[in-house]
Amino acid sequence: MINVKEELARLLNEQVADLTSEEIEGMIEVPQNSEMGDYSFPCFRLAKVLRKAPPLIAKDIAEGLSGNPMFSKVEQVNAYVNMFIAREPFVKEVIGEAMAKGDEYGKSDVGQGRTEIVEFSSPNIAKPFHIGHIRSTVIGNSINLIHQAMGFKVIRINHLGDYGTQFGKMIVAYRHWGNEDDVRNDPIPTLLSYYTKFHVEAEKDPSLNDEARETFTRLEHGEEEETRLWQWFRDESLKEFGRVYGMLGIEYDSYAGESFYSDKMPAVVEELREKNLLKESQGAEIVDLEPYGLTPAPILKSDGSTLYITRDLACAKYRKETYDFYKNIYVVASQQNLHFQQLKKILELMGYEWAKDIVHVPFGLVSLEEGTMSTREGRVVFLEDVLNRAIDETREIIKEKGVATDNIEEIARQVGVGAVVFNELSNNRIKDYVFNWKQVLDFNGETGPYVQYTYARCASVLRNAGEDANDLKDFDPGYLTEGSAYTLAKEIYALKDVIIEAGTKYEPSILTRHIVDMAQAFNKFYHDEHILTDNKDERKAKLALTSAAKTAIRNGLKLLGMEAPERM
Ligand code: ARG
Repeated sequence: MINVKEELARLLNEQVADLTSEEIEGMIEVPQNSEMGDYSFPCFRLAKVLRKAPPLIAKDIAEGLSGNPMFSKVEQVNAYVNMFIAREPFVKEVIGEAMAKGDEYGKSDVGQGRTEIVEFSSPNIAKPFHIGHIRSTVIGNSINLIHQAMGFKVIRINHLGDYGTQFGKMIVAYRHWGNEDDVRNDPIPTLLSYYTKFHVEAEKDPSLNDEARETFTRLEHGEEEETRLWQWFRDESLKEFGRVYGMLGIEYDSYAGESFYSDKMPAVVEELREKNLLKESQGAEIVDLEPYGLTPAPILKSDGSTLYITRDLACAKYRKETYDFYKNIYVVASQQNLHFQQLKKILELMGYEWAKDIVHVPFGLVSLEEGTMSTREGRVVFLEDVLNRAIDETREIIKEKGVATDNIEEIARQVGVGAVVFNELSNNRIKDYVFNWKQVLDFNGETGPYVQYTYARCASVLRNAGEDANDLKDFDPGYLTEGSAYTLAKEIYALKDVIIEAGTKYEPSILTRHIVDMAQAFNKFYHDEHILTDNKDERKAKLALTSAAKTAIRNGLKLLGMEAPERM
């Protein structure tokens, strides 16, 4: 499809050769008031180069552009060139392309097939997969999908927290007080209760701590019994995580978590030592980062055991060697800002030029509204329960609405899960937010159900059109150049650029916002205009626009990780 701004920049460049096309593109504005044109070019900056008053420059450029078929009108107003896009060819092209490309509409090739790693979710084994995990999981998945649509080759990694001294404690607790059936029946809460019990008991009997340390050392050395238990805890936990990923439609290329790097750490520690980066501090070994305004990073504890950052160093090196990534993206809470600054700095000090390609995408906290959800006296709220409750409530809502479908379960699932996902991706990621049920499931607000409902409405219009909707290719764009129809076409046109912007800024909420804009534009068009009118040509044009809107909304939702129901 034509890139309107690029094309404009090219044309303007013929008029003002003193700036590059890129510079010109950056100067083009979109006026707030559409009476000032679809695009506007300010000439102030040219005055110096051309030694002419800006209004005169604008006048010359406007004259040079007039008569070009891309514009219906080009005007000089003071120092501005106001350009009005010739609407018919524009609308024809946008809608034609959305209909022809279908699922591919909105994709680009800015990524040029480069390999990127998107690491997201990465929960800790044997700990609850709770509402707080929704953030990395859903934001990360959307960044993954958006980057794929931008033409990157994305490797999706779940860096499981499956290593560390806590597994020594858990194994000890299991041996003393555990029961196999309990673990099998309800793995995570059971394992968590062992972990809690361990801490209570260790208060009374500190020798348990020594036992746990020894047990972890045995695990590190790959002793059979410890490894078997650890593997079992890991498998049981993964089953639970897997259920949630299944509900969210999330898939991974690799579950290489912390334990995967256990045998790769000695080499990194050795390398740090060779490069003279290790320093002794109270028996431990650290990398001093004070000269860079960062707190020291502990690499080895006094007992020789490794730390979280040691594993991340080994991991980053492994990923570079294995995937030769263009970017290595970590979607991890902002509480870990310091950790990633340290990681990046140490890799830089090690002399790795690719340290600059490490990208930490942080996000704020989600909290629960008091009262609306029982945290059962300090007990955590499982993400799975949140999704199930959303599905249950959605089922009730659609039953009440009396939706004609024989597939209520499927729709309740698509809409319920979608509502939670959409809500998660509505806020600027760095902001803290409060999870609010009323807001999540509001069918009229700027929510997932609202957008999905709009999508289903597009589908229903096309269904009701019957055979008329079969061949829309040769529609007459003349019916779509005014009012809400034209506004909708412009929103559909913007999708590709919005996807690129959201991906470049690692900010899915930009896309979420635009999907709401498209849905609102469609609903305005739907209310303003009679789509299935008697005039055959007009009906065809309006159906073509409806079909394009349907495609654009669906493609947008997909990149959030949401499904789009045909009926609702
Ligand atoms: N498991 C960690 C946590 O739950 C997150 C892991 C982040 N990724 C990383 N490569 N350090 O806090």
